[in-house]
Amino acid sequence: MTRAIRFYETGGPEVLKLETLEIGEPGPGQARVRHTYVAVNFIDIYIRTGFYPNKLPSGLGSDAVGIVEAVGPGVTDIKVGQRVGYLIGPQGAYSDARIMPADVLIPLPDGVSDKTASTLMMKGMTAQYLFRQVHPLKGGETILYHAAAGGVGLIACQWARAIGVTMIGVVSSDEKAELARANGCAHTIISGREDIAKRVREITDGKGVPVVYDSVGKDTLTASLDSLQPRGTLVSNGTSSGPVVIDTVLLAAKGSLWVTRPAMMHYITPRAHMLDMAKELFDLVLAGKIVSEPRQLFPLERAADAHRALASRGTSGATVLTL
Ligand SMILES: NC(=O)c1ccc[n+]([C@@H]2O[C@H](COP(=O)([O-])OP(=O)(O)OC[C@H]3O[C@@H](n4cnc5c(N)ncnc54)[C@H](OP(=O)(O)O)[C@@H]3O)[C@@H](O)[C@H]2O)c1
Repeated sequence: MTRAIRFYETGGPEVLKLETLEIGEPGPGQARVRHTYVAVNFIDIYIRTGFYPNKLPSGLGSDAVGIVEAVGPGVTDIKVGQRVGYLIGPQGAYSDARIMPADVLIPLPDGVSDKTASTLMMKGMTAQYLFRQVHPLKGGETILYHAAAGGVGLIACQWARAIGVTMIGVVSSDEKAELARANGCAHTIISGREDIAKRVREITDGKGVPVVYDSVGKDTLTASLDSLQPRGTLVSNGTSSGPVVIDTVLLAAKGSLWVTRPAMMHYITPRAHMLDMAKELFDLVLAGKIVSEPRQLFPLERAADAHRALASRGTSGATVLTL
């Protein structure tokens, strides 16, 4: 028997219920993973509220680390006893243990603890695909990055520093600004207090930036577009403040701008590519260029409180469930 968070209707954090389930044995191509830590991500809030479609009733979460307890027929490259993590696959990570498709499991290297890895799977792989695939950074650029002290944000700050990119990070408080700078963000702007686009022009001698990574969405769209150089790119990689609607005529008026709305699932396949992405991330961690630990820990049964904290901007860095 295993404990799992499940929900039967979309809504506020109160829809999340702790239940006890029988999980059984893995079938062909599957593995049973006993979790050590389960990561909480903003996407879990989109799924809980129904903003992202999902069949109900359902488990929640797609990001965890643990140890392989059993494998089903035909599984050859994942072994019993192996430490693994994952960030894609069916909902249901908020649990003590579960059955997973074996081909989404990523072996964890020695030297990267489960606790550290729990902050990296979704969040570090997101930084990888944003900076190395969606709009590849070469080093030497100055970029604008929203929610720089968030779960993805603190890793992005360190990744930018590691590859010689000057990051201008937007955050909502002085404490978060200090944290982002301590993690390698070169400049910080406090949203709600400062004019984001004006500050970006000051920092870049009027030029603007070639790329903005904007996971905040509705509240920051105009500031993001106004911060770009002609033919610059808005990477709209999230909607923490609400969805974005873009008038394409505005893109011409503001400088023939590009916009992309990337999703991890289109950047992480095939499996060999996913493992290469993870290797690049883990190598930075093993080299000490990315240092990452959970900043908020909640026991599994308090998953709803973890959601409340994340949704109310009360967290910084990674939020993780303990078992
Ligand atoms: N496209 C993809 O494949 C992909 C993958 C992973 C994550 N994401 C997106 O990346 C973003 C970061 O994810 P995360 O899990 O690391 O979350 P997070 O950044 O730790 O938390 C969200 C942050 O967004 C900021 N924010 C601004 N307006 C907000 C509002 N109205 N409500 C709540 N937060 C607001 C807050 O930072 P301040 O207090 O500093 O403003 C908050 O801490 C999310 O939008 C997520 O959906 C996208």
